[in-house]
Amino acid sequence: MPALHRSPPWLTEVFDRTIRPLLYDADRIVRPFISPGDRVADIGCGAGYFSPTLSRLAGPKGELVLLDAQEVMLEWATARVREDPLARARLTAIRAEAPDLPLPAELDFALMSWMLHEVERPEAVWARLQQSLRPGGKVLVIEPLLHVSARRFEEQIAPALELDFVRAAVAGIFFSRAVVMTRR
Ligand SMILES: C[S@@+](CC[C@H](N)C(=O)[O-])C[C@H]1O[C@@H](n2cnc3c(N)ncnc32)[C@H](O)[C@@H]1O
Repeated sequence: MPALHRSPPWLTEVFDRTIRPLLYDADRIVRPFISPGDRVADIGCGAGYFSPTLSRLAGPKGELVLLDAQEVMLEWATARVREDPLARARLTAIRAEAPDLPLPAELDFALMSWMLHEVERPEAVWARLQQSLRPGGKVLVIEPLLHVSARRFEEQIAPALELDFVRAAVAGIFFSRAVVMTRR
């Protein structure tokens, strides 16, 4: 199997600071899935494009766990959260390589944005998420439209359907395929 692509940190950071805010309203995308007090994970958080928004929505009684395989990404994402005075959820940043994810128990919501195609064993990630999510907990998967074919996207999601997840389509995220998976 060819080595999976992993985003260069500099590219992610430049994209996040320039074009991305024009195309992706982070609050609009994740707000439907998060309530105040929630325990939330940003898996493969990258430079933290969504991280401050996740923290804001979880609020001061909530919790945000940032996970990424690359230390520099975690540093950028952490800095981004700390710079936002309204991002007040309890913050933990952990360097971790999926599927070996030290997720907390009773997780309410996990975001996997543009990361699942970089993971070698998506089925093992879903098994880990099933252990960690509370019943009714949700995972929002967003994948880049050109980079990930419809068929590949289905292959990434299929293992979750063999477990305890039900799927619902999510429309309206620019240039992306997206689905929300709810743990029964
Ligand atoms: C394209 S970036 C997307 C970052 C962020 N989620 C976003 O939407 O901006 C993919 C991120 O996933 C991380 N990643 C890739 N494979 C991973 C793995 N097996 N475990 C943890 N993180 C991983 C990369 O280090 C990178 O930061």
